[in-house]
Amino acid sequence: MEMVDLSVCIGSVCHLAGAYNVVQSFTHLIEEYNLHDKIDFHADFCMKNCSKPGVSVSLNGTKYTITADKARNFFREKVLPACEAIK
Ligand code: FES
Repeated sequence: MEMVDLSVCIGSVCHLAGAYNVVQSFTHLIEEYNLHDKIDFHADFCMKNCSKPGVSVSLNGTKYTITADKARNFFREKVLPACEAIK
């Protein structure tokens, strides 16, 4: 079955920028929306994208940089539509 690939960088730069909080937010949101069978959620080490301030996130291979307080918005705006697309 096709799945949405979502990962959060937990390399040192992103860790300092709040990667742990982003991981927590995504984990809660995946529970909340019951998306375990739709999202392959994992952590990655440095995505070679650390020049930007924030936490690197990869969604189906596209890299984004977000801050922890934007994790929920990002999930709603980008991750949920990606999940809808594979229904
Ligand atoms: S540490 Fe996250 S992109 Fe480098």
